[in-house]
Amino acid sequence: MTQSLYEYVQTHGLKYYIETYGCQMNEHDSEKLAGILQAVGYQRAEEMQEADLILFNTCCVRDHAEKKVFGNIGALKPLSLRKKSLIVAVCGCMMQQQDVAEKLMKTFPFVKIVFGTNNMNELPSMLYAALMQKERVLNVRQSSISSSVIEDVPMQRKERPLATVNIMQGCNNFCTYCIVPYVRGREWSRAPEDILAEIRGLAQEGYQEVMLLGQNVNSYGKGTGDVDFAGLLERVATQTGIARIRFMTSHPKDISERLLEQMAKHDNICKQLHLPVQSGSSRILQRMNRGYSREEYLALAHRARQMIPGIALTTDIIVGFPGESQEDYEQTLSLVREVGYDAAFTFVYSPRNGTPAASFPEQIPEEIKQQRIVRLVELQGELTYQSNLAYVGKKERVLIEGVSRRDEQSICGRTDSGKMVNMPGPKEKIGGFVWAEILEAKRTTLLGRMLDD
Ligand code: SAH
Ligand code: SF4
Ligand code: F3S
Repeated sequence: MTQSLYEYVQTHGLKYYIETYGCQMNEHDSEKLAGILQAVGYQRAEEMQEADLILFNTCCVRDHAEKKVFGNIGALKPLSLRKKSLIVAVCGCMMQQQDVAEKLMKTFPFVKIVFGTNNMNELPSMLYAALMQKERVLNVRQSSISSSVIEDVPMQRKERPLATVNIMQGCNNFCTYCIVPYVRGREWSRAPEDILAEIRGLAQEGYQEVMLLGQNVNSYGKGTGDVDFAGLLERVATQTGIARIRFMTSHPKDISERLLEQMAKHDNICKQLHLPVQSGSSRILQRMNRGYSREEYLALAHRARQMIPGIALTTDIIVGFPGESQEDYEQTLSLVREVGYDAAFTFVYSPRNGTPAASFPEQIPEEIKQQRIVRLVELQGELTYQSNLAYVGKKERVLIEGVSRRDEQSICGRTDSGKMVNMPGPKEKIGGFVWAEILEAKRTTLLGRMLDD
């Protein structure tokens, strides 16, 4: 069957285009989806307009993300009328909500395939049904054991030097605001040997940096084996030959002393920790079911700074969680000041159907949420700038990722701590390390000068 699908796709010269929303997990899934599509003969289209298959990999973590998906799919109507053979497919977290998936099928007759995060590897048979049998396919499995982390899926990765490696799926934490455990299912860890083999392969292919991905990497291996996350990290650091290792996301309640020790011990583990705090008020943290208090979080942040000098700390923060008083909010601001984050992703609380917090009383009015986020963004902007200023005059090892966005003559890449540095330099440096002197701090990035040429 796949053979004739392959022939069909080849003889018609079909092209695909993938649009990805949401987190790095979804970005990573899209690399797998691209790999599957290329294995059945599709070629990548540069533009959405020239594609025969447009695939939306969706996110539903906030309402905004869902609205954007509906809007952008709706905008394809004229194209679908002009191009009768066009297949629009929609997958990802948002489709794991049965009612949303059905509504989408009903609203947009030109959407031919809908599937969930557990069905990615069935894409060839879904395409077969849509292309050859002219069927519409709705295929969303709620199974908690995810088959999307299967070991033999071909992957069409982004260009070197950075690669993402999935180490686990799902989440068991059930923070009261969050929909991820419902759509991504229960935690499930990959075997350490498979992860190590993948990273060794990447190192051999010339990748320099891997980002180990999971909703909650500190739960890695829980209940399945004897290697926990600190143990995995140690093996990746010592047994794969990869030059740089990052990971996300770490849940503060599960960070172990051993993990910090590993970070301090190995030069190839980047000195950067993404440690989502969500709120600076213990009362709100409890209502969020986060499993730590303000004091415990602060102690952890200080411990990390003490054990790993120069570590960059980043975070996620939600404002306007139900019942958040002005006092609770002020506590968030004061925690942000005290930790002095290098960067923060800040969000306005968005009620998600089916999560406990959506039906909590005392939902915060929209204009108050807006006021709160504006002040927080201002404060963090100032702190980011301050942390950047501390780099001026320093020498940093930078892994060059590409050409600068604003200047064709400049190249850019990140420091060990994750700061983006722009500097004049030739494209040949892309994919490798350079030493740079930091000349100037901008609001969110650094300006530097290459030292080794
Ligand atoms: N597993 C990660 C990331 C989950 S989603 C973690 O635990 O940190 C990324 C971020 O989105 C979360 O950290 C949180 O800050 C934000 N988020 C999740 N649900 C949200 C909601 N309902 N409203 C607003 N922000 C939300
Ligand atoms: Fe969501 Fe909490 Fe799980 Fe993160 S840890 S994915 S915020 S439930
Ligand atoms: Fe969104 Fe799913 Fe990631 S809901 S944030 S794409 S896990």
